[in-house]
Amino acid sequence: ARVHLIAAARPNFMKVAPLWHALTAAPDFEPVLIHTGQHYDANMSDAIFADLSLPQPDHHLGVGSGSHAEQTGNVMIAYEKIAQAERPDWLIIVGDVNSTLACGLVGAKLRIPTVHLEAGLRSRDRAMPEEINRLAVDAIADVLWTPSPDGDENLLSEGCSPDRITNVGNIMLDSFEMVRPKIEATAEPAALGLPEGYGVVTLHRPSNVDDPETLTHLVAALLAVQTRLPLVFPVHPRTAQKLKAEGLDAALAAGGVLLVGPLPYVRFMSLVAGASAAITDSGGIQEETTYLGIPCLTLRENTERPITITQGTNRLVNASNLVAALDEALAQPRSERARPDHWDGRTAERCVADLRRRMA
Ligand code: UD1
Repeated sequence: ARVHLIAAARPNFMKVAPLWHALTAAPDFEPVLIHTGQHYDANMSDAIFADLSLPQPDHHLGVGSGSHAEQTGNVMIAYEKIAQAERPDWLIIVGDVNSTLACGLVGAKLRIPTVHLEAGLRSRDRAMPEEINRLAVDAIADVLWTPSPDGDENLLSEGCSPDRITNVGNIMLDSFEMVRPKIEATAEPAALGLPEGYGVVTLHRPSNVDDPETLTHLVAALLAVQTRLPLVFPVHPRTAQKLKAEGLDAALAAGGVLLVGPLPYVRFMSLVAGASAAITDSGGIQEETTYLGIPCLTLRENTERPITITQGTNRLVNASNLVAALDEALAQPRSERARPDHWDGRTAERCVADLRRRMA
């Protein structure tokens, strides 16, 4: 069976790679890798492909940045041509980015059996563009692969028929396990000159970085943390633009925060694995820190990944309570909490088995 796999933006690549490898190893599947080009910088894309041993994509749509409508529309126009020409047996879309929605719409209208990997997550915050993408994609995809039981519950409560849903687990952790030896052989903290205890910061959500006043408060909070825990901050391109416009990059650097550009996957995970805590607004890092048992302070009002709070190491914080929350998290003994079910590095196998079952 021919399977189109869509990769678009940085957080997609860790979800696509394990599945691409599993499908490539399976004699009955022929994966076709399609990169929409939503992320295009070397460290946002090519270096991560290399880390995850992904080949050059079979198709590159080269769509790039733009408004939500431009980005979504351009991906639809470009992907429709390929979908029509190749008529895959399955289309697999991952995550919640604009390209996920764009390709999902194309697949649904061409009646190509479409699977959403990482279905059912809900922040219940429609100010988040990703939440709109999740709701729309889950409404139209044929098969919904969830990472955790809360995903199943959300979908069922929205009226999805149970036969569309399979809980396959968290595929990002397959990527972690796949490259664990490389991560363990990489001494990124030492290479960056970091001391024994340090924190990793990432920020890129529009709700945190687009408004100068909000961003200024966050930077002040980070500078307060820096006096207790040295911070390293790999800066997303969106955030770099906003920090620079307000002169906040200089303020962070002057306060001692180590600013670096976006890092490829292996170097970044080496930083996270060695950290005392992560401070972030990313979805994936909430999950990776739960998997690794590292405290995570999430600078958001809500999360579509509640299992990282109920069963993991995550807590929701804001600029005002960040320092207190960090003190509390660091004072707590590191407990060996159970990892959520099916967060075990074997999700891609379950995905392939589910496709076979649905074709039988
Ligand atoms: C996108 C996703 C978000 C995901 C994030 C991870 C949507 C709606 N958002 O947000 O869900 O968590 O990726 O990174 O799909 N840019 C570069 N180089 C790149 C990519 C982007 O310079 O390789 C610049 C763009 O020109 C733009 C900014 O970064 O100014 C934001 O990029 P964009 O892809 O629009 O959204 P993200 O914030 O990355």
